[in-house]
Amino acid sequence: MPKDALDTQCLTADAAGLERAAALLRGGGLVAFPTETVYGLGADARSEAAAARVFDAKGRPRFNPLIAHIPDLKAAMALADLPEAALRLAAAFWPGPLTLVAPRRPGPGEVADLVAAGLETVALRVPAHPAALGLLRAFGGPLAGPSANPSGKLSPTRAEHVLGGLSGRIEAVIDGGPCPVGVESTIVAVAPDGAARLLRPGGAPVEALEEALGAALIRMDGAAGAGPIAPGMLESHYAPGALLRLGADRPGVGEGWLGFGPDPADLGEGPAANLSPEGDLIAAAAALFAALRRLDTAMDGQGVIAVAPIPERGLGLAINDRLRRAAAPRAPS
Ligand code: TXA
Ligand code: MG
Repeated sequence: MPKDALDTQCLTADAAGLERAAALLRGGGLVAFPTETVYGLGADARSEAAAARVFDAKGRPRFNPLIAHIPDLKAAMALADLPEAALRLAAAFWPGPLTLVAPRRPGPGEVADLVAAGLETVALRVPAHPAALGLLRAFGGPLAGPSANPSGKLSPTRAEHVLGGLSGRIEAVIDGGPCPVGVESTIVAVAPDGAARLLRPGGAPVEALEEALGAALIRMDGAAGAGPIAPGMLESHYAPGALLRLGADRPGVGEGWLGFGPDPADLGEGPAANLSPEGDLIAAAAALFAALRRLDTAMDGQGVIAVAPIPERGLGLAINDRLRRAAAPRAPS
């Protein structure tokens, strides 16, 4: 679909509008929705293809992980293993402006690799806005929801802000009026041993979180109040055991092959996959993590995977960013 070609609808935050939005989401569409913090760019969090469209619509140059929005604690427990400390915070703050990062739970209906950006953890939030909760119930599954603005622009707190940035790039926006909190959620990562780290300050005050927790949060921003470390930088991303050779025109002897666009005539004996034979960058992003995993398994985590050149435009920037990190020499774990 060409960029900026969609006729973005503005939906009402009533039952009819939410049903229409849920139907668009079920079809793999993007629907911005109000939350108590800021407007989120909603997409089916279980779908690699829908998540790829989120990164494309926002123009994000990197696959940083997205928050999965769910309607209640039960839905959160199906997607993540919540340690006791996380349960205590959830009981005190959900629904509300708190996002919890916890180990991902594999299984049917798990979040897409692109939503978790290949991490072993997932970020979860139960929003307090009635339209957001109504949409989650009408849709019946988790919704990825980064702030509904082009990458690098201000987060939107009104439907008009969403349209100003993303009109033509998303199927619809639900107009729920101004967002009451106006800043993003506080993000806390809870490790299996219960250690709770503040990854991003936000709408839920740190003092109140610490009171509910009965312990101090581990601060990542330094005692002097320096800026927070980008959360995505804290965890190691999925990297194959095999080495990657980027920008290759064909696999060498014994190498695996990850193609994009038409494959060379002779692919040799190694395992091969193609991110998108048609050269579609959105389809390629959706296929990226699964293809890397499949090739790495077929190579027993050894040897070299030759990777075709990916154009440096649109989602190609994010795909190349991820491939370069996977190709970089790694410290032993
Ligand atoms: O208030 C909010 O949180 C809004 C509304 C729409 O809910 N959403 C929002 O999403 O701010 P976004 O994508 O703009 O911010 C998500 C943040 C990113 O900084 C990302 O790095 C971090 O959450 N994050 C997500 N998953 C993570 C994970 N598994 N580990 C560490 N950080 C994670
Ligand atoms: Mg944002």
